Amino acid sequence: MSMRRKVALAASAAFIATLATATAQDPTSLKDAYKGAFVVGAAINNAQITGQDSRGDAIISEQFDSISPENVLKWERVHPEPGTYAFDLPDKYVAFGEKHHMFIVGHCLVWHSQVPGWVFRDDKGNFVDRDTLLKRMHDHIQTVVGRYKGRIQSWDVVNEALNEDGTLRQSPWLKIIGEDYIEKAFQYAHEADPQAQLTYNDYSLENETKRKGALALITKLKAEGIPVTSVGLQGHLGLQWPSVETEDVTISDFAKLGVKVVVSELDIDVLPPATQQQTADVSLKVEQNAKLNPYAGGLPQSVQQELAKRYADLFGVFLKHRDVVTRVTLWGVTDADSWRNDWPVKGRTSYPLLFDRNGQPKPAFHEVVRIGKSTEAR
Ligand code: XIL
Repeated sequence: MSMRRKVALAASAAFIATLATATAQDPTSLKDAYKGAFVVGAAINNAQITGQDSRGDAIISEQFDSISPENVLKWERVHPEPGTYAFDLPDKYVAFGEKHHMFIVGHCLVWHSQVPGWVFRDDKGNFVDRDTLLKRMHDHIQTVVGRYKGRIQSWDVVNEALNEDGTLRQSPWLKIIGEDYIEKAFQYAHEADPQAQLTYNDYSLENETKRKGALALITKLKAEGIPVTSVGLQGHLGLQWPSVETEDVTISDFAKLGVKVVVSELDIDVLPPATQQQTADVSLKVEQNAKLNPYAGGLPQSVQQELAKRYADLFGVFLKHRDVVTRVTLWGVTDADSWRNDWPVKGRTSYPLLFDRNGQPKPAFHEVVRIGKSTEAR
């Protein structure tokens, strides 16, 4: 073994040892580490909502003070057929959050994905007209937001309305209703629960071109008096992209518009990128191959440390902006839960979160706690 490699190994062993000691002496949770700065959330799945995943539930209640529904409040789940609502799981989801006194998020009302085809079509299969779709949107929002009025504190009202070039995505919502579908969605949500925080949520807003589109959209909504309270940066990030400077500028840019910023779906990919673009488009599918799945047998210590440092750097930025950042939500609890194991390539072994496949805190967890507690950062 080369001298360099030996030194690197010794350094990594020392790093891990320090972290282990730090935890033993200092069992602080994520929510405690960031108390007074922002709430720390996790997206939770069916097994966690129904209590089947007791290990996951213990982590959620000990570590987090906010939850998001990974899927149960998406249109296709909560409103699969015309006039048929499936409230069993969403009711349990909200009850879980209330039991643990959490900040409860609703995700999401108007999106082009995970929405059944019938929403946009008539009996003959043709697109419905503007008024019909507006009425369907209104009924859906009224029913779902209304049911949890005063209990779900924040709704992702419109999800992913923008293309990468900052123009509006040609979704059925836009094609059938026109540009003001966004305004209408916010108005309906506000009517249904005037106290709820209302978010515009999207991915890759760190990229300047797309960010400009989002800034223009929020500026327009604010000028029209539309009750948009926050922008959700989804935060499906990588080890290199975006730079911490870019994350910093992105948050500042939105803060200048007078909206709060939430990091709504944070995870950090350590796997080789499957595509050139930075995207979180759920419809993207890439064929599996061994090169794209290098850590099926375990994550090398060097990458584990890189991930820990990356998490620390990003939480440093979020903490710097604690006056505007009101929530940071991880998109999942343990690495085993993460959608990144199956997107955009099915069947990879991914390591994007703060708890490993055995539910153990990773070095990244300890780093995030350390940053939260450092008086220097405050
Ligand atoms: C993902 C879920 O995690 C998966 O379980 C589901 O199969 C697809 O959607 N942006 C969003 C989230 O706004 O709703 C997506 O969640 C991830 C990308």
